[in-house]
Amino acid sequence: MGRNMALPLLLSLAVLAASPAATANPGAAFDNWLTATNTDYKVNQALYAKKAVGDTGNTLDASLSAAEANKTTYVVDPKGSGDYKTINAALAAIPEGNTGRVILDLKPGEYREKIFLNLSKPFVTFKSDPMNPAIIVYSDTAATVGKDGKPVGTVGSTTCAIESDYFVAYGVVFKNDAPLAKPGAKGGQAVALRVFGTKAAFYNCTIDGGQDTLYDHKGLHYFKDCLIRGSVDFIFGFGRSFYENCDIVSIVKEVAVLTAQQRTKTIEGAIESGFSFKNCSIRGEAGGQIYLGRAWGDSSRVVYAYTQMSKEVVPVGWDGWSIKAPESSGIYYGEFKCSGPGSDAKKRVGWAQDLTEAQVKPFIGTHYVFGDSWIQPPPTGKSAPSTKTSKSSADSPAESPDSSSSAESPKSSKDSAAASSPKSSASYSKDAKSSEKKKEA
Ligand SMILES: *[C@@H]1O[C@H](CO)[C@@H](O)[C@H](O)[C@H]1NC(C)=O
Ligand SMILES: *[C@@H]1O[C@H](CO)[C@@H](O)[C@H](O)[C@H]1NC(C)=O
Ligand SMILES: *[C@@H]1O[C@H](CO)[C@@H](O)[C@H](O)[C@H]1NC(C)=O
Ligand SMILES: *[C@@H]1O[C@H](CO)[C@@H](O)[C@H](O)[C@H]1NC(C)=O
Repeated sequence: MGRNMALPLLLSLAVLAASPAATANPGAAFDNWLTATNTDYKVNQALYAKKAVGDTGNTLDASLSAAEANKTTYVVDPKGSGDYKTINAALAAIPEGNTGRVILDLKPGEYREKIFLNLSKPFVTFKSDPMNPAIIVYSDTAATVGKDGKPVGTVGSTTCAIESDYFVAYGVVFKNDAPLAKPGAKGGQAVALRVFGTKAAFYNCTIDGGQDTLYDHKGLHYFKDCLIRGSVDFIFGFGRSFYENCDIVSIVKEVAVLTAQQRTKTIEGAIESGFSFKNCSIRGEAGGQIYLGRAWGDSSRVVYAYTQMSKEVVPVGWDGWSIKAPESSGIYYGEFKCSGPGSDAKKRVGWAQDLTEAQVKPFIGTHYVFGDSWIQPPPTGKSAPSTKTSKSSADSPAESPDSSSSAESPKSSKDSAAASSPKSSASYSKDAKSSEKKKEA
């Protein structure tokens, strides 16, 4: 996916799609779906209300409430004054199947590590200081050759992969600093962050890369006050995600595509997915045109509400990519009360929707991601002291002879092998295969 070679085609498709033949015709399928979404919304509201008047008044998932009542903090400092020097060392110390929240208090600095958070370690928080952040950075691309002698692919290019549930990040920079691929070059996908676990929240984070920056892969996700930078298809995947107050920036002179949302009937669970953006700002820092999205999958779904769009956003807005009849395929692209020179809904492709207040309501709140059961305020405030108790400084990985080698060559760790072959995780393999197939297709 994200072949630069496809862009001339993309542009011509967009021009075709904008022809008067395709003037606004929401269609019965769209109306049915809106009705269903609104019904879901009411049912969920009712469920939460019922839960809230129950025994504790707590609507949070029980396992999450329990985890929040039992917190441990590990201090990670690349300069060596914490419990651990690397994030990988701290993650390795978390017991599998942990039931309490483990907060990694990340001291400022660069963490040149490839991270893979196994699904067996839920309730992990990466906490940093947005004004002086921890920068997690690596530079693999899809074309990087892995241990097995083959290119690692899009999934394997990821700097930081989160596969466990209930992850939280505050004030962290996730970055892939591979040089930007030349237009038309193959294998330029360079993922900075891939989120595959469900119920994950990101506050005041920066997700920084080029092609395929943020793999919003699967699950319920919330991004608030984040900066996301990229070029082609830079937010992609079949997550069901709510982006609020985010700054979304194209870094290229050529064409950028902000989303490639992969809602499709052929991946289990993907039909529940979609990206909703509220009160975000979209802009380009190098002058290239910006598409709001192109359809990766037959039923791609993206909504922008109250979003500021700079002049780089192309008037047609959206692209059907390889979908021949976007108006009847199940693609839902909508906008509501956006502003700025790039926001003129009248010039959009005929099959995009200028939504009404009632239509947009299910999308523009944390209820879109069933947030009442898992979204909590960001973990701001002063860092707690380390509460890690089980280790003396003598056997702390930060001090042990092994740790320097792990700091210098994170690739030698078991985790990096996992990152280049995530198929070893059972629940993962099926989806990964189908996404990879699409990406190489
Ligand atoms: C608290 O969390 C730790 C780490 O996950 C776990 O080992 C411990 O059993 C938990 N304690 C309670 C009371 O749940
Ligand atoms: C987090 O982001 C919001 C929005 O950009 C900003 O108002 C707030 O000051 C940020 N918090 C910190 C601690 O930087
Ligand atoms: C919109 O987002 C900006 C940050 O980008 C924030 O300062 C502002 O408070 C937000 N407005 C609302 C209504 O949430
Ligand atoms: C995740 O951890 C489990 C349990 O240790 C292990 O069997 C599995 O291989 C790990 N998955 C990956 C993808 O590393």
